[in-house]
Amino acid sequence: MSSMLVLGGTSWLGGLVARHGLESGLSVTCLARGASGSVPVGATLVPADRSAPGAYGPVSDRSWDVVVDVSWQPGFVRSALAALAGRARAWVYVSSVSAYADGLAPGSDESAPLFPALAGDAAGPEDYGPAKVGCEEAVLSAFPSALVARAGLLAGHGDRSDRFGYWPARLSHEGPVLVPPREQPLQVLDADDLASWLVSAGLSGSSGTVNAVGPAMTVGDAIDACAAASGTHPLWHEASEEWLLVHGVNPWMGPDSLPLWLPADDHGGMAVSDAAARALGLTTRPLADTAAAALGWEREQGLDRPRRAGLGRAREAELLAQL
Ligand SMILES: NC(=O)c1ccc[n+]([C@@H]2O[C@H](COP(=O)([O-])OP(=O)(O)OC[C@H]3O[C@@H](n4cnc5c(N)ncnc54)[C@H](OP(=O)(O)O)[C@@H]3O)[C@@H](O)[C@H]2O)c1
Repeated sequence: MSSMLVLGGTSWLGGLVARHGLESGLSVTCLARGASGSVPVGATLVPADRSAPGAYGPVSDRSWDVVVDVSWQPGFVRSALAALAGRARAWVYVSSVSAYADGLAPGSDESAPLFPALAGDAAGPEDYGPAKVGCEEAVLSAFPSALVARAGLLAGHGDRSDRFGYWPARLSHEGPVLVPPREQPLQVLDADDLASWLVSAGLSGSSGTVNAVGPAMTVGDAIDACAAASGTHPLWHEASEEWLLVHGVNPWMGPDSLPLWLPADDHGGMAVSDAAARALGLTTRPLADTAAAALGWEREQGLDRPRRAGLGRAREAELLAQL
């Protein structure tokens, strides 16, 4: 039986990778603290803190057919490679399109300029892009045949960011809805499609650095799919980028945001080439299925719970009155 080691596996994407590994008949081990959650039934959790010396000791005494790392901490990525690169047949690293430097042109491929790599071991959220570049460099230097997947926006069941899920939750209610410019480009990838491909591509020895993103669409397409999943017919009130910025609405994610909206000079990261990942076998399900999965997750979590991303109903009503 082939074996897979997931460095992670207790959160969203890593958990899905572990589940797809099990469904592919692999023996799956996950190394994590266990602070973020549990691993899928059938996988083995090796509890370890990657910031501690000797963290990889319990998994470095055997060989692995594939190791998948989801971390964005360069120190963790480097220490895992030092302990395990010689023990692995294939290495898969989940990076991000956030690795691309500001000013990315729409349609760019993997040769576009990156941020300078973060020099240190530990990264904060503000260092996310440079940290991913540092991690990629560490992976490719220790494991030149690795597969590095620069993931774009992920969505679907299990999303803990509250970002894409804002829309199916919000659109579960009828009535007027504040939306950002609907023509903004967007690429939405179901995390389940990414996880399944990471496992199959890793096992088949795929190598290289590729953008793992969903098909080209617009924010309007995504919002429409969420309304269709919810079965509602909201009244769109579309605000311009300038209006949203002047009225203190935050882009992309987090409190007081309109999730998925990005100012025009940031659109490049939502319109990158997917050709290389498609050539390595990445396939994507219809957007309607992802919207339905995200809605299912939102219903499980509670549609009207306090959220980490989006506008509260009262704040949205205030903004609608001003628009
Ligand atoms: N969401 C998106 O739209 C998006 C877009 C692009 C790329 N990505 C990438 O996709 C990946 C998301 O993966 P995910 O959802 O599984 O990850 P995650 O939510 O970032 O969780 C990180 C994993 O690392 C483990 N971990 C954290 N600190 C640790 C420590 N000190 N020692 C051992 N383990 C530790 C966590 O487990 P414990 O806490 O249990 O230890 C958890 O399993 C990331 O690489 C992210 O950068 C996401």
